[in-house]
Amino acid sequence: MALVGCDGSGKSTLARDLVSLLDRQAPTKSMYLGLGTGDLGRRIGELPLIGALAERYLSGKARKAHDGPAKRLPGLVTALAMYGLSLARLRRFRKVLDYRRHGVQVITDRYPQAEVSGSFDGPGLSWTRKGSALVERLASRERALYAGMSAWRPTVVIRLNVDVDTALARKSDHQRDMLEKKIAVVPTLDFAGAYIVDVDATRPYREVLETVLAVLRRHGLNA
Ligand SMILES: Nc1ncnc2c1ncn2[C@@H]1O[C@H](COP(=O)(O)OP(=O)(O)O)[C@@H](O)[C@H]1O
Ligand SMILES: [Mg+2]
Repeated sequence: MALVGCDGSGKSTLARDLVSLLDRQAPTKSMYLGLGTGDLGRRIGELPLIGALAERYLSGKARKAHDGPAKRLPGLVTALAMYGLSLARLRRFRKVLDYRRHGVQVITDRYPQAEVSGSFDGPGLSWTRKGSALVERLASRERALYAGMSAWRPTVVIRLNVDVDTALARKSDHQRDMLEKKIAVVPTLDFAGAYIVDVDATRPYREVLETVLAVLRRHGLNA
């Protein structure tokens, strides 16, 4: 079962609470399938001096990587870093498949997709952009990783919908334009044709939690 939605839609909070509720009925785990670069940047940023410099460097890179489609692929070092983050995501994804094989129900916080590059839980590197031969190869390998992951269809996808003002109020350190982009992209993703349930996540948290629990029960999860 996957929780998707813009930052601030409540994915991580719900994943935590759902696991502790569901785990009483049947073995349940949650898995974060995002990239965590925002959090990584913030964590690195908490280190004195070096941290501040590294964070500025990383967030500059991240912003550039998210820029318009006319852009070129990044250099080898940045491309390798992005590829490495994707490999880390792949490891967590495989762990999810492993849990399923052992009869554990899993709630994922985000879900990989292979439709849109540059953030939104898709490949970091755009497969349509030009770059050095090596980086272009990395980009196509990375895309193949995402094609492999996103071919797995979740039992149900819960799409948590919020408006940009609500998202910003809950995540004050995020940029409005990035949140707006995410809000626009999430509804276009099809998650391997999974059954997608839209949930209004601007409502009070208790109501959202109850709604999601009811959806999970309808889809055969022990909730
Ligand atoms: N329905 C809700 N109503 C009010 N606040 C909420 C709601 N859902 C989540 N929050 C709060 O918003 C913040 C961001 O939630 P979080 O779970 O981190 O979102 P996400 O993981 O989707 O980015 C947290 O402080 C959380 O407690
Ligand atoms: Mg989160």
